[in-house]
Amino acid sequence: MRERQRMTRRKSDQTRLVQAGIGEDPQTGSVATPLHTSSTYIWKDIETKGEFDYGRTKNPTRELLTRALVELEGGVGGEIVNSGMAAIDLCLNLLDANDLIIAPHDCYGGTHRLFTHRAFQNRIRVEFVDQSDEAALDVALTHNPKMVFIETPSNPLMRIVDVAAIAKAAKAVGALSVCDNTFLSPVRQKPLALGCDIVIHSNTKYINGHSDVVGGCVIANSEELTERLRWWANCAGLTGAPFDSWLTLRGMRTLPARMDIQEANAGKLATFLDGHNQVEKTYYPGLKCHPQFDLAAQQQFGPGAMLSFEIKGDLATAKSFLSGLELFQLAASLGGTESLICQPAIMTHAGMAPEARQNAGIKDNLIRVSVGMENIDDLLADFTQSFSKI
Ligand SMILES: Cc1ncc(COP(=O)(O)O)c(C=O)c1O
Repeated sequence: MRERQRMTRRKSDQTRLVQAGIGEDPQTGSVATPLHTSSTYIWKDIETKGEFDYGRTKNPTRELLTRALVELEGGVGGEIVNSGMAAIDLCLNLLDANDLIIAPHDCYGGTHRLFTHRAFQNRIRVEFVDQSDEAALDVALTHNPKMVFIETPSNPLMRIVDVAAIAKAAKAVGALSVCDNTFLSPVRQKPLALGCDIVIHSNTKYINGHSDVVGGCVIANSEELTERLRWWANCAGLTGAPFDSWLTLRGMRTLPARMDIQEANAGKLATFLDGHNQVEKTYYPGLKCHPQFDLAAQQQFGPGAMLSFEIKGDLATAKSFLSGLELFQLAASLGGTESLICQPAIMTHAGMAPEARQNAGIKDNLIRVSVGMENIDDLLADFTQSFSKI
């Protein structure tokens, strides 16, 4: 790998992203990122191995992606793993048996399921708390947690919590703070700068941005955490495939441009929904009526491109609206260039028990939208025609 020349001036995220993994092969001079697929590497003799030894432990293409994401999140080190869930599960390896983790009551359904089932196995204990309720969080923090897991904005209700305050409170009781930054990406939020110890992503979403890779990453704020996380990623075989890293590097070069367009579209769609007579409630941190509008403006670099809304009616109304759409794809992911739409209670959050969903406020008439890069007039026209058919 090429040694980067030091720049006197700190580069912007946009420059870092456009240049990530470019011109890294001194042997050939290739501008495009080299894709190294070798699973193993030749030793000089039995005592001397090179920087790369075995693909599960370290791979040159994966290292380029790791470096780019570490720089972007302002971390010390990290690792690329094979999904967002693998990133979260990897963090649980930092805990001892029966250690307590405090998690949001309204986190992604898969995260809720993972913590719940790891607790069933007595691997950890978990307390799900409404982290925007300061009093409830304060009580949970007296229970000697070892990790506080944060997800903001939350999936699917877009609740915003105060990352700096929670990270500080976690530190005060000796707990690690881990933030899932999937919904905003590092170009809209920097949890490590807000005081968190670890940030994780589902790279499947905005970072790759093209709905053609499943991947994840963990980025830590210290050498010690980095070493432990990388040790476990290698030990448990969680590291990501080289081709996925290569595709992700290619996808993430356009992240700031994608986010700008998608966010602008989301703002217009949210305003349209907010004033619509067939809509009960719209959840988008860029709307002034959002309960944590000020906090979002303060800790984020923009409201992002995810929103959700409750349609007036019931599950049947939601189904009728979804089936009437022509442009939005009915699918359970987010962050790609194309607009996706889903019904969380049945789709993305089906892994949560019905009481947990109810507790989190995820109703049957709730619809979640990942706003893409299509022309906004086309997107608005599609919503209008589908509403009119109900
Ligand atoms: C906020 C959040 N975190 C983590 C995940 C899990 O990511 P993956 O599907 O890459 O395992 C998701 C998936 O939707 C998510 O929305």
